[in-house]
Amino acid sequence: MAAEQQFPRFSRILHWTMAAMILTMLFIGIGMVASLADYHWLISIHKPLGIAILVLVAIRLVNRLINPPPPLPPDLPALDRIAINASIRVLYFLMFALPLVGWGMLSAADYPIVLWSSLSLPPILPHNAELYAVLRTTHTVLAFLLFATFIGHFSGALMHALIFRDGVFESMASWKTMTRKTAPYRE
Ligand code: HEM
Repeated sequence: MAAEQQFPRFSRILHWTMAAMILTMLFIGIGMVASLADYHWLISIHKPLGIAILVLVAIRLVNRLINPPPPLPPDLPALDRIAINASIRVLYFLMFALPLVGWGMLSAADYPIVLWSSLSLPPILPHNAELYAVLRTTHTVLAFLLFATFIGHFSGALMHALIFRDGVFESMASWKTMTRKTAPYRE
């Protein structure tokens, strides 16, 4: 029963690692377009970190199917339930789409996608300047959408932690494995 009340340890590690990586990526992306002087070293981090996010989200999705999340508290209002489930779907979509669009746009630009030293990725799209232009704009729009969804998700998490205090936040945030005594909801 206790194990069902919180996310499995591996899911919690993936969640917080990816949260830090995504936030870093958003700021690196903004730094890249804001500062020409720092552009080259920032993009040399942006590309491998973005591809690492793509790999991790694939692992995370498989992990979620094998180790499903704990059920939400039974007394959670229907609207909250819908908002939580929708934001999770949008976040998963963006975690896949953003790195793929980044990879695709550099492919369309016929730009080498160097990850580290001699490690490069193959192009996933043909060289096409118009396609590059569309994907470049798509990358920006998706990045802002990810930022907005992230803020919504974070605000919701804080509301559960500080106002509702229903254990939803602890089910992901607590490093300790809950016992029957410490489990905040469900018995
Ligand atoms: C979760 C993953 C990613 C996030 C959150 C992210 C975020 C961003 C952000 C915020 C920007 C600046 C805003 C703008 O587009 O104007 C940006 C630009 C960019 N990103 Fe990403 N990105 C991700 C993955 C990738 C990947 C995997 C690649 C390539 C392999 C990539 C390549 C680029 C490039 C080339 C630019 C534009 C630089 C320029 O205009 O000169 N991104 N990204």
